[in-house]
Formats: sequence, structure tokens, C-alpha cells
Amino acid sequence: MSIDGTTQLVGVVGWPVAQTLSPAMHNAAFSYSGLNWRYVALPARSEHLPAAIRGLGALGFRGVNITVPHKVDVIPLVDTITEAATIVGAVNTIRIDRNSGQIEGLNTDMGGFLTDIATNRINVDKNSRVLILGAGGAARAVAAGLVRTGAQVMVVNRTPEHAQMLVMFIKSSWSQNNIDFVYMENLFEASRGATLIVNTTPVGQWPDVEASPWPESVPLPKEAVLYDIVYRPMKTRLMRDAEAAGLRTIGGLGMLVYQGAAAFEVWTGKKAPVDIMKMILIQALSEAAPGTPAPNLINDD
Ligand code: ATR
Repeated sequence: MSIDGTTQLVGVVGWPVAQTLSPAMHNAAFSYSGLNWRYVALPARSEHLPAAIRGLGALGFRGVNITVPHKVDVIPLVDTITEAATIVGAVNTIRIDRNSGQIEGLNTDMGGFLTDIATNRINVDKNSRVLILGAGGAARAVAAGLVRTGAQVMVVNRTPEHAQMLVMFIKSSWSQNNIDFVYMENLFEASRGATLIVNTTPVGQWPDVEASPWPESVPLPKEAVLYDIVYRPMKTRLMRDAEAAGLRTIGGLGMLVYQGAAAFEVWTGKKAPVDIMKMILIQALSEAAPGTPAPNLINDD
């Protein structure tokens, strides 16, 4: 479908964005769905963020994804914010109303994670014990989603103060108290009986593919499922180690697909072709041979 006077525009605002996978994923979805829409990468430095967001509305963009490092800083720039984005404390998607120009801030990372664990038939409820590695933005989306299921959630992080802050933030958003932080030194005890372990740190992500966020001295609990939100490589060192220890593992590709699918649906009002989106990502990630620079790939959750 050619670009013409009726083409609708969306994209991703971040810094840097040159290597994002999202344009390939969304443009394939638009094309498959017969929509004359295009998704473009929009690099914007932090100091230009307010002008960039205002400009999108002025130019008739229908919405954008917001990625690193703007997911928190964009909050004061939107007119309305969804409950999910408030709870996570980050906006990864905005929708611009065609008629009024009102900007709505959403978070599709949390839902993307929950949809992917459900798709993988991982049952999380009040009998589950979940261990989250990391306490950054991705951890907030994962933790907020998991706390809602009633699971007992533990957060462990290199810097314990960051885990503590995350726990306080989530507790203040919910009346439940089913989240706590644990010190790295207590990882062994904390991980016994865990039913799900989620790595939300970038450790193990290309190009540092031999790194693992899990200390070698601590055995992985083999009755747990290991979910690594890193998707490049599709099988991380942590996943390989976990499989060798007998755990079931899941990589972060599905979360990327479902957060994108949710944004697609918010913008277009149409069902996202998730299988096509997943296929395009697998193709792009497989084309990049391990160890070779692949200029069109980064973690832009
Ligand atoms: P994001 O906000 O996008 O999720 P981030 O801020 O780069 O990503 O980091 C997420 C988490 O990964 C943080 O909790 C970070 O630990 P610190 O709080 O101690 O900074 C963790 N992390 C990043 N690199 C790490 C490393 N090499 N080893 C252990 N944890 C790491």
C-alpha cells in the first residue's frame, strides 16, 4: 500500500531509536490488516520531549510508543492517564484523539506481560510465589501485574534500595501487601518454593550474551518457570542454565509482541494480527547471527 495523503502515522519516540524492532513489527501488522498506516522511529532527546509530543498532535499523528528514556518524563505531558499507567508509574503508549487532539497516556507493558504468561498457560494466583530480578521500569510493570493476581511477589535487586523503593511504590498503589523485597544474600532461601522467576534486568542481553543475573552459587529451583524478558538473544544464558537445571523457560518475545498488539488495537480499533507480528520478530531476530552487530535490533520494550 503506497504512502499517500490519507496515510495515518504512528511511531516510537525515544533516544536512541535507530535500532528498534517496532517499525518492522507494526508495519507488517498494518500491511497484513490492509490499513494505510505507517510506523516510524522518532528520535527525540530529553530536552526536546515536550516539543516532540506537542508536535505529534499538531502533525496529526494518531499515537506513538514511548521508550527509553522517556517513559516517566512523558507523564506530565499527557492530558489523561489510564489506571494501568498510573499503577506502573510509566507511559509506554500514547493515543492522540483525532478530533479533540487530547493525549491519553497508557501502559501496555503490564498487560503485555500478563497476556504472555496467560498464553503460555502459566497459572499465577494467590498460591504462587514469584521472584522478580531487577527493580527498574520493566520490573515495575511486571510487579504491578503480578501483585494484582494475588501471588506472593518478592523483588531482588543488585541495589537493594531500588527494590525497596519499588515495593513501597507498588504497596502505595494497592491495598494489598503481597509484595516484599529480599536481599541478594538471601536469594537461596527466597527462591525455594518459587513457582515463577522473572528476570527484568537487561543482563544477558546482546551483546553481553554470556552474562546472567542469577549467581552461580545459588541453585535454580527446578519446580519454577523461568521467564526472561530479554528477547535478544531469544534464548539467553539464564534460560540455557535454567533449562539445564530442569526448569521450563520462556523468553521476552511474547511480551514485546503483546505490548505492541495492545498499542495497535488502541490506535486502530482493530484486532492485532499477533501471529504475523511474532513471525516478523522471530525472522528479524534469527537473521542476526550471534555475535554480529545487527543494526536494526535493540530492547525497546
Ligand atoms: P529498565 O528501567 O528499562 O527496566 P534499567 O533501569 O536499565 O532498565 O535496569 C533495570 C534493572 O536491572 C535495575 O534494577 C538494575 O539494577 P540497579 O537498580 O542496581 O541499577 C538492574 N541491572 C542492570 N544492570 C545490571 C547488572 N549488570 N547486574 C545486576 N543488575 C543489573
